[in-house]
Amino acid sequence: MPNPIPRPSTPYRRATGLFFTLLTAGSVAIAGENPRSRAEAEALLERMTLEEKIGQLALFTSFGATTGPPQDQAALEENIRAGNCGSVLNALSVAQIRKLQKIAVEESRLRVPLLFGYDVVHGYKTIFPIPLGETASWDLEAIERSARVAAVEAAAAGLDWTFAPMVDIARDPRWGRIAEGAGEDPFMGSAVAAARVRGFQGRDLTAPDSVLACVKHFAAYGAAVAGRDYNTVDMSERMLREVYLPPYAAGVEAGALSVMTSFNELNGTPATANSFLLRKVLRTEWGFKGIVVTDYTAINEMVAHGSAADEADAARQALAAGVDIDMVGGTFVHHLKQLVREGKVSRRQIQAGARRVLALKAQLGLLQDPFRHCDEAREARLLGARENLEAAYRMACESFVLLKNESQALPLKTGKTVAVIGPLADSSRDLLGCWKADGAWDSIDTVLGGIRRNNGDGQVVFAPGCDIASTNRAGFAEAIAAARTSDVIVAVVGESWDMSGEASCRTSINLPGAQTELLRELKQTGRPLVVVLMNGRPLALEEESAMADAMLEAWFPGTEGAKAVADVLFGKQNPAGKLPVTFPRRLGQAPIYYAAKNTGRPLDPANPKEPYKSSYLDCPNDPLYPFGFGLSYTTFNCAEPQLDQSRLLPGGCLTASATVSNTGQRDGAVVVQLYLRDLVGSVTRPVLELKGFQRLVLKAGEQRRISFNIRQQDLAFLRKDMTWGTEPGSYLAFIGLDSRELRSARFELARK
Ligand code: GLC
Repeated sequence: MPNPIPRPSTPYRRATGLFFTLLTAGSVAIAGENPRSRAEAEALLERMTLEEKIGQLALFTSFGATTGPPQDQAALEENIRAGNCGSVLNALSVAQIRKLQKIAVEESRLRVPLLFGYDVVHGYKTIFPIPLGETASWDLEAIERSARVAAVEAAAAGLDWTFAPMVDIARDPRWGRIAEGAGEDPFMGSAVAAARVRGFQGRDLTAPDSVLACVKHFAAYGAAVAGRDYNTVDMSERMLREVYLPPYAAGVEAGALSVMTSFNELNGTPATANSFLLRKVLRTEWGFKGIVVTDYTAINEMVAHGSAADEADAARQALAAGVDIDMVGGTFVHHLKQLVREGKVSRRQIQAGARRVLALKAQLGLLQDPFRHCDEAREARLLGARENLEAAYRMACESFVLLKNESQALPLKTGKTVAVIGPLADSSRDLLGCWKADGAWDSIDTVLGGIRRNNGDGQVVFAPGCDIASTNRAGFAEAIAAARTSDVIVAVVGESWDMSGEASCRTSINLPGAQTELLRELKQTGRPLVVVLMNGRPLALEEESAMADAMLEAWFPGTEGAKAVADVLFGKQNPAGKLPVTFPRRLGQAPIYYAAKNTGRPLDPANPKEPYKSSYLDCPNDPLYPFGFGLSYTTFNCAEPQLDQSRLLPGGCLTASATVSNTGQRDGAVVVQLYLRDLVGSVTRPVLELKGFQRLVLKAGEQRRISFNIRQQDLAFLRKDMTWGTEPGSYLAFIGLDSRELRSARFELARK
């Protein structure tokens, strides 16, 4: 079923003012808000001492994984026993969680159950493609299904809470965490955020296979200056509200009951102590009723930011701004009681936070059954189950983006001699990407293995050629020799899994090491050259793209990624992915994104050398591969859009339609995209804005009429007076297969 254009949802519009159109089909009331569980939480709260209430505001890390600066493990169990710990991070497996929960409910005074959280970002045991890759599928149902599978496995492993979805808009490819999100676009980012929240939380948070979602990192973490992680973020409120906030709002709108503050400052105030974000926007405008957790030691880091004199002052500021839980920093446990004595923090503030945490535990069913997710048999049955692997395989196939395919280089014909070259060809760890959770890689296939399996009686010769990062060319000769014996070269190149993700930023987005040089020498052999990319960010691939006969973007495709890559290379699957983020020609163009402003001196692409235009001396303006771009093994055509009327009346609906044809020889999926442009506004407007998309499968030769409904709220923006709404005037509607090859039709939004 194609992804329908999402519909505006009133609460969301009221909260953010954004007439954001979201797929709200699955957004459901979160079960568990029952009076009995709330009464239990209140009764518990009344019995708590001040110290025990403070304890509910503390989260400490266990030892199953390390996701930040290492911490003292011995104190964990003592903190739990003393009631100084309300939640635990990084406890993996039912056995570990049962052990810690038993301490809480059998040895602490009030026996308050712990909340167990972990970063299940793109899978728990069955690892899916990195989120940027999943987004490239443009298949919201598959994205929701991926989060659902992750929830089923995480809950089966005893967890209550995942620190996902990461929904940070990212437009700077240097930033390593671009891998973890949904790319550059607020519309796409919002739709994906909502889908992932629905997948994680399911229809009933008390269900054995649901986990609490956590929308992160609030807010605008992806706009770090120079693309350097944890760096300063400074932007106008207009940019914040129009580009960076919508996905967080969409996650809250979809029912997420926790939000994580980001490490960065925003306009001078660290997000973790930013009452504009945490109170005005999150609680007042969006009506958020859940809990706010900081990122890992983010409160402590306010001292380094220079906005707090010491950790006590940082704790005071964070609590006052609206933080409920201190992740790992220990600042609430160490300082709040003294701050109460000094009159700098009120008991009421602490009570409010503890109330929210206990209410959430009640909503999850934890107060009734602290061991609700502790079932070893269920854990053994569900982790890595066949149906989960199949879902991961399908998502991997859908995530790949075919960037180039000339002289029928792809799909490969079986039975030929294939030279598989490159440092990533025989790697299994890299397949899992930056947040591998509890995924195992020692027993999964590699791309080389997948090609061997698919090539029938054809010969496969392998040579790594070089490693990923060094400039060592010692392996070149072997690789060239292997290539010379082949009918076709498949070069698997890119980044290692740890070159993206947290604290993994790069000042270059070229292929690392000697990989480009290796491709040059492979090209010299004259054999057809197929390049498979594994990477966590847009790369600058101008030279590589020119050399390759075919190029497939595979991201880090997960547990079933090797089979998926091999099946796409040999044509068992037809790629249909579309880029969720712009691929520049060079880093010097960044930040570069499709929804740019026209400027007062726009460059005419037909006259690129015209002086005094917004352009570069040494590079075209346009990207190498634009947002929304991706090819197929078949070909598609999208005809001129037609409108059923040329005037959209306030409150009315206009339909834009186009006929899409599969003009090739095989069936294939295609993502048809709707963009709008407001030609004149009280403030300047982007030249394009994604406002809808539909993913559909067309048989060879099939034509289909695709329609998008356009309503007034789809034209809303932050007007000059900073109010959300529309302005009458002329608009263009574009329908196409990417954000570059578009044809438009004009319409007017009438005043009344
Ligand atoms: C990390 C990450 C955050 C993660 C948290 C817990 O520092 O910034 O995304 O959820 O700590 O592991």
